[in-house]
Amino acid sequence: MSADETAGKPVAGTAPVDLDGVVNLFDFEPLALERMHGPAFDYVAGGAWDEITLAESVEAWRQFRFVPRVLRDVRELDLSGNFLGRPAALPIAIAPMAAQAMAHPGAEAEMLAGAAAAGIPFCLSTSSSMTMEEVAKAAPHAERWFQLYVVHSLDYSRTLVERAAASGYRAIVLTVDLPVLGFRERDRRSGFALPAMPHMDDGGPGEPNRYGALELQRGAGLTWDSIAEIRSWSSLPLVLKGILSPADARLAVEAGVAGIVVSNHGGRQLDRSATSADVLGEIVEAVDHGCEVWADGGIRRGLDVITALALGATGVLVGRPFYWALAAAGRAGVEHAAAILRGELDLALPLLGCTSFADVDSDLLA
Ligand code: FNR
Ligand code: LAC
Repeated sequence: MSADETAGKPVAGTAPVDLDGVVNLFDFEPLALERMHGPAFDYVAGGAWDEITLAESVEAWRQFRFVPRVLRDVRELDLSGNFLGRPAALPIAIAPMAAQAMAHPGAEAEMLAGAAAAGIPFCLSTSSSMTMEEVAKAAPHAERWFQLYVVHSLDYSRTLVERAAASGYRAIVLTVDLPVLGFRERDRRSGFALPAMPHMDDGGPGEPNRYGALELQRGAGLTWDSIAEIRSWSSLPLVLKGILSPADARLAVEAGVAGIVVSNHGGRQLDRSATSADVLGEIVEAVDHGCEVWADGGIRRGLDVITALALGATGVLVGRPFYWALAAAGRAGVEHAAAILRGELDLALPLLGCTSFADVDSDLLA
């Protein structure tokens, strides 16, 4: 089989996963490695240039130390979160990630089914393997958001937003840290090319390159002035993903967005970017409750989630671990990944003397 025929599919014939043996999120990665083609695995695992930001993003959360409180009644816990005014089972959502058919034949529909079973929001990428309408059918009532890349033209992007609103997505997450695509050396070496992506491919001819129409994003020439127009395309709340500067966070609030995601795109865009953990506190201060502040990048443990919330985030996104979980065991894997995080939070909160995330603030950090 040629590389083109295999790239968009997982490896066939691997043994089923015993999820009881998967005790933390890191355990999913070797299982995914066995089930995905090498170049596809590397595309997901990898980052830009020297992958400095990729590595530091995991480490940065681990540098914080807690000061737990004691002798508080922690018999009853509430682990729920809230995104854009709606409750979620946890303060955790699944980050938008391209081309999930490389992990599982059910692709994004399977990921959404797992998210829905766990009660956590799922964000669908513009670069998905399935159309947003096909994905929606997997869990019509689940909390779903649509991540927007403006490729081809503003007119075409407007049709994507209108389709998202019509098919029950509850927010538009506009990714603003990809004017051009980061340079991923693993993909150069492996010859990786993304498989079919209907929202990207339908809008016009993609570039004849490994990342298709994604490479056209620069042509949109997006600026802060574009935000009002994009907001006007639907009544859905708009969230800007990929903010690292407090000054940009303030501009986002001025532009009237519902939220921002403090993110370096999982270390896949500008290498040597600051980590979300490093800038989150300052951004929360700059936003001054003007909109919701979510964070992502390297969140692998319940303790990372608590650190982000202690720094003032209202919720977090988790990326790669859910991709590995999908590759390992489909929706059951995704549900298990969420259950692992739930279990970690269920222990960490009482150990910190807290009963809900309302009790989590910067006083818990040394
Ligand atoms: C991404 N990310 C991403 N972001 C986005 O806005 N649109 C996208 O299509 C994608 N695609 C994508 C593919 C893959 C394979 C990965 C790993 C990541 C970035 C993603 O939403 C998120 O910001 C990071 O993945 C968070 O970091 P962790 O949790 O993966 O460390
Ligand atoms: C990536 C794009 C698709 O990070 O966001 O690969």
